[in-house]
Amino acid sequence: MLEKRPLVEALENFHKQRSISFHVPGHKNGLLSNLPKVMKETMRYDLTELCGLDDYHHPEDAIKEAERLLSDTYETQKSFFLVNGTTVGNLAMIYATCQFGEQIIVQRNAHKSIFHAIELVGAEPIFVSPEWDERTKTASYVPLEVISKAIHQYPMAKAVILTYPSYYGVASSELKDIIDLCHVNNIPVLVDEAHGAHFRANKGYPKSALMYGADVVVQSAHKTLPALTMGSFLHFNSNFLEVSTINKYLRMLQSSSPSYLLLASLDDARSYVDSYNEVDFKYFMDRRTLFMNSLETIPCLEVVQVDDPLKLLIRVGKYAGFQVQKAFEAQNIYVELADTHQVLFILPLLKGEHEYPFADIRKRIKYAVDELRKEEPNSPSEVQPIIQHSISTLHMSVGVLSGKRGEWIPYVRSIGRIAKAMVIPYPPGIPLIIAGEKITVSMLTELEEWLEKGAVFQGEHRLAEKLIYVVED
Ligand SMILES: Cc1ncc(COP(=O)(O)O)c(C=O)c1O
Repeated sequence: MLEKRPLVEALENFHKQRSISFHVPGHKNGLLSNLPKVMKETMRYDLTELCGLDDYHHPEDAIKEAERLLSDTYETQKSFFLVNGTTVGNLAMIYATCQFGEQIIVQRNAHKSIFHAIELVGAEPIFVSPEWDERTKTASYVPLEVISKAIHQYPMAKAVILTYPSYYGVASSELKDIIDLCHVNNIPVLVDEAHGAHFRANKGYPKSALMYGADVVVQSAHKTLPALTMGSFLHFNSNFLEVSTINKYLRMLQSSSPSYLLLASLDDARSYVDSYNEVDFKYFMDRRTLFMNSLETIPCLEVVQVDDPLKLLIRVGKYAGFQVQKAFEAQNIYVELADTHQVLFILPLLKGEHEYPFADIRKRIKYAVDELRKEEPNSPSEVQPIIQHSISTLHMSVGVLSGKRGEWIPYVRSIGRIAKAMVIPYPPGIPLIIAGEKITVSMLTELEEWLEKGAVFQGEHRLAEKLIYVVED
């Protein structure tokens, strides 16, 4: 039996009334749309704040009840549905915590939305560097010792902002000690848990940062739960911050016309987590083991497990992840991301009733690998990126930077210059260079490696012309 889903029920009830629309949205329950039939039918549920459907920014009925259930499931003081992804949650939690010129301790390998928030607020970031994780060949979490040093050096910091788990599924339990240390020093901890909305579903997954005592946690429900894209959760559980301040910024930063389809999918995703039981988890893990075992019989293919069982890394001999990604795409298998070493799979959070075509997938992967092996490998270099100083600040503050002129110069001549714009390999969306940072040899070495292996970049860049944007001398 399905769990209670107040918002889904409210939408269904409204739809049953065969109501006439003299209101927004302009597609009039899909009537005026020329989209294909299945899409058009869904538009009948694309409603707005009508009688019985509550008010997103001032909830008193179905949305209030659905958010209360969310809060119960995740055991928080208050939880919110977000309609603009974890991006808006990250913006709101940072706006609510610090002001112009105030210091904030932030993990250097955070998502760009964190850096955008810091830039918008005009806060002064104190970067703490993560450990290098040899298993995933990525930068992962910041150790306790580094956070402790940062707090000691910057005791006035308004918050510590961390990413947990990493995009690649690394989830260190050291987070508990870090949160305890911050709290002893009266510093709240804000966690970007974009990739951990499913952690609550079963104790076989890593613990959520909420269970370790984090103050604000934002999760992309759409990444691992059955929610529509852009659907996220923000959880508040703090004795240091005011929930009303977070709410104020959410009201300012989010649309006044939220998508009800999206909100309903968040209500459904919450109920999915609530009803996920031991049998479901065992079923998922059994299917996963069979799948991994079947992949490991493919010559040259290596499966790497991480802390989060929902993620798997696949490597093929000396081939760059970008080559593997292309070979898989030729067989219509689409991965979450590729990097120089590997591709990342996000597995489906299966319940006992779900089938997934693992046997067919294995067949296609075998074919893709056979085809790939006819090509030359663009082998990843074994050079480990140099992790920058464990604690660093911007060479030029956001405020000063915005008043400076920029110029495009060949990136090979940019060492020692101050970056005027971020350079962001996407995915994962973690900036390689942040505006205001001094460009170093190790940054350029890594940049060249990404470029050589065919990475895609976001941000203001002209990398195809080998140019980078720096502060004018
Ligand atoms: C670690 C991390 N934080 C935040 C985001 C942004 O999340 P959303 O797409 O839900 O806005 C992402 C997206 O990839 C992410 O990986």
